[in-house]
Amino acid sequence: MQGAQLTSQVLLATAILYACMVPAACVYETQILAFLNEFRMRMCHPIPNLGLPALDPLQLGPAETALNNKYLVDFTGSIDNFTLHGLSDFDVPALTLTPVPALRNTINVTFPLTYFESLYTAKGSLAYILNMAGDGNAETSVTNFSILISFRLRSVSPLAIYSLQIELHLGDLKINFDNLLEEERINEFIHALVNEMGVELLGDIWDYGQDTAVSKVQTAVNNFLGKFSLQDILQIIIGGGGGEESAPIFDGVEPDCKLEANSSN
Ligand SMILES: *[C@@H]1O[C@H](CO)[C@@H](O)[C@H](O)[C@H]1NC(C)=O
Ligand SMILES: *[C@@H]1O[C@H](CO)[C@@H](O)[C@H](O)[C@H]1NC(C)=O
Ligand SMILES: *[C@@H]1O[C@H](CO)[C@@H](O)[C@H](O)[C@H]1NC(C)=O
Repeated sequence: MQGAQLTSQVLLATAILYACMVPAACVYETQILAFLNEFRMRMCHPIPNLGLPALDPLQLGPAETALNNKYLVDFTGSIDNFTLHGLSDFDVPALTLTPVPALRNTINVTFPLTYFESLYTAKGSLAYILNMAGDGNAETSVTNFSILISFRLRSVSPLAIYSLQIELHLGDLKINFDNLLEEERINEFIHALVNEMGVELLGDIWDYGQDTAVSKVQTAVNNFLGKFSLQDILQIIIGGGGGEESAPIFDGVEPDCKLEANSSN
């Protein structure tokens, strides 16, 4: 379920960028940033026209998963009352769009602080060596997470993106999973390791898995784009009139999510 949410966010972001492909009606950076701001002001509500649940806070669960290949990994896990905060605090320090196929489009999205809390269970073993006994609260906070996406657009039909690159930066990562590992000393060691070295560890994992992840994302994005006309995507961004008023995609969703934050600052 979490994966589906993330996918729809990635797809939405791509759709927004893709709107720049229509030569006669290119949606420029300022309009996209304005759209993202309209979006941000509504992220505490579901946005039915985009098929999105409330994103800040994002609540998931109950959900369960199981993995059992008998030899190395034996795992059952669940989450309940998962709540993720901070997605709507994003900044977009860099956004460059071009319909010229030879040039790269880039977008950098930065999240100053995101954190989640959840009830969780994680039971099982890794190669029968590490026994997981996870049950209780799980908390994770991530500081200064940023994602830099760059790609080229193929302007002839079928429209598609190619040479997608994704870079991730992480300022800090802190985790606390109650009773994650059966053996208390190992549990403490793993927590200390992640909390001391999380940034480097995640960097290494990302470097290791990046090629597969990126090609999967690119395929998913292109499958998605194939189902929409550019006109559809433009409708999402600028709406029917393309005038001053906000896109009809936000019909009935109040832009009131950031009022409290603004007045308390
Ligand atoms: C999840 O949260 C709801 C509302 O906050 C609460 O009523 C419920 O008991 C919680 N679930 C569990 C399993 O604690
Ligand atoms: C995104 O931009 C910020 C601010 O300029 C920068 O600190 C960060 O490293 C960039 N992210 C990536 C992944 O390059
Ligand atoms: C996060 O970024 C801000 C502004 O760039 C900086 O002041 C702060 O030290 C960073 N925090 C971490 C943990 O990287």
